[in-house]
Amino acid sequence: MRRYIAILLALLVLAGCGTKTEPPPETDLIVIGMCQVGAESDWRVANSESMKTVFTEENGYRLLFDDARQKQENQISAVRKFIQQQVDYIVLMPISETGWDSVLQEAKGAGIPVILVDRMADVEDESLYAAHVGSNFLEEGRRAAAWMEETFREKAGPVRIIHIHGTLGSTAQLGRTTALEEAVAAHEDWELLAQLDGDFTQAKTYEVMTDHLSALSEGETIDVVYCENDNIAFGAIQALEERGYTCGPGGVEIITFDATRGALAECLEGRISLAVECDPLLGPLVEEVIQAMEAGQVPAKHQYPEEQLFTAADLSEALLAERAY
Ligand code: AHR
Repeated sequence: MRRYIAILLALLVLAGCGTKTEPPPETDLIVIGMCQVGAESDWRVANSESMKTVFTEENGYRLLFDDARQKQENQISAVRKFIQQQVDYIVLMPISETGWDSVLQEAKGAGIPVILVDRMADVEDESLYAAHVGSNFLEEGRRAAAWMEETFREKAGPVRIIHIHGTLGSTAQLGRTTALEEAVAAHEDWELLAQLDGDFTQAKTYEVMTDHLSALSEGETIDVVYCENDNIAFGAIQALEERGYTCGPGGVEIITFDATRGALAECLEGRISLAVECDPLLGPLVEEVIQAMEAGQVPAKHQYPEEQLFTAADLSEALLAERAY
């Protein structure tokens, strides 16, 4: 009997082996050197995860992942290292827009295509990158400004705004800031009380917002805090609530960008008024670009994911449970 069981087990193991997908041979893997900004926000963590999920050996890739810890010089060194390693593609999430011409020229000279992901690089020669996959940050900001216009249409008196921006010089900061400044310039009764640097992190925002609020005189009203990402919104809410402000619809209206699960939960609970989505799950779109190039096609120069706006009315516990990030 034992012998039959042993044979049965052996057959089951063999059957299992037959159905398992084996990774392609080492030499067939497409090697990707990826320069990520860091891990400053929930969005960034989800973005890295998306890349790591798509670019696996089972899917035919070898991913060399570099975390630049928020420093452009680390990103530049990583690109140079990938050029020396003769990777097949470089995927770069540029921390800020300027300062890329030389190193991207080096990549071009070595015949390695560069795909920009999330943010842009402001280079004179567009042929220095093969494609860009990421959000339209200016459009995101304009949608937030349109929501403010609607929300404050009937308000008597000025609309008093605090703006907390992300990493200076990054595409996300430039687009969202430009949209707000355009809207302030177009509305005589919108007042920009302060522009603070939150660097896309909760800790820095909590610090600068606490300092700013401490310097305000008693009873000064704030109508809106325009936060350039969710982690900025979390830091701002923490600082505001500690000083006795009520955040959310009818109180200090908090506007945020990203719409990660944590921010949507705050929105459903009534602390955030508007969450503008910025999709971090860019891995599949980047893979489409690479596969198009592998097939000898020229990919579209810019690809933007579809994104939406959320207020509490658009949310439910079920939606939060399904949210992938
Ligand atoms: O570039 C995208 C922005 O960078 C996201 O809004 C933010 O959370 C991230 O750190």
